[in-house]
Amino acid sequence: MKLETTIQGLCASLKSARAEQKIIGFVPTMGNLHQGHLNLVREARKKCDVVVVSIFVNPIQFGPNEDYDSYPRTLEQDSQLLETVGCDYIFAPSVEQMYGNKPRLTNISVSNITADLCGLQRPGHFDGVAVVVTKLFNIVRPDYAFFGEKDYQQLAVIRQFVRDLNMPIDVVGVPIARAEDGLALSSRNGYLSEENRQIAPMIYKTLKNAEQELLQAKPLDEVLESIKVALTGAGFIVDYVEARSLELQKVETFNQDVVLFVAAKIGATRLIDNLQVKYIS
Ligand code: PAF
Repeated sequence: MKLETTIQGLCASLKSARAEQKIIGFVPTMGNLHQGHLNLVREARKKCDVVVVSIFVNPIQFGPNEDYDSYPRTLEQDSQLLETVGCDYIFAPSVEQMYGNKPRLTNISVSNITADLCGLQRPGHFDGVAVVVTKLFNIVRPDYAFFGEKDYQQLAVIRQFVRDLNMPIDVVGVPIARAEDGLALSSRNGYLSEENRQIAPMIYKTLKNAEQELLQAKPLDEVLESIKVALTGAGFIVDYVEARSLELQKVETFNQDVVLFVAAKIGATRLIDNLQVKYIS
């Protein structure tokens, strides 16, 4: 496994792989890796000849009051983990390497599907993701790129601009990795106090409970309301509880496959999760 910190270095390293028509798989991350990220790399390893993982905490996707400065940067630990799952190249550029020192005048903005859910609370966040992922795609030029379904809206945004801009990349979504008690794995779980870590799995429990209620024909609006009530009762500040089609369009009734979305704060930590519920007619 090789660590590259410059665009030039990575491009030079990938040149021979490209010349030999090897399939290049890419896993973009912000580091502080957990089993969820490692699952993405395992999937990439299965499908591709060469696996590149980027580790870059992207400043432009963080809002002014978000955790950019305190976001955990753990390159050494990440490198050790990546070695165990067969990553070939880590690309860990500096902010200057990625953004240079001249102003950036180009933006990439996906409309409609970024207007609500996390887009509402985090204005500009998905533009920041779209810009950095596009830059990374242009640098790595992968055949396949792997993203977790935990960030379902992010995955939808990436699929959308890849399609809209004819990027020749196959975007692969990988199911959410969970702790034994159901909590969706996230780098931000490390912010939870011991007490809040005990409460956090309630999100998944309420989602699973909601799935049962939907399958027993309880109306969708009542199901969403009962998630809110349960989470608020457990001490969460609920940001949103929503149901969407698999393509992120609003749904009023459970008459197709849906995704249930939750974003909620426990203490100072904002957690997100989602669950796909299959409609059986
Ligand atoms: O999901 C993430 O870790 C980030 O949003 C991504 C896709 C690496 C872009 O910075």
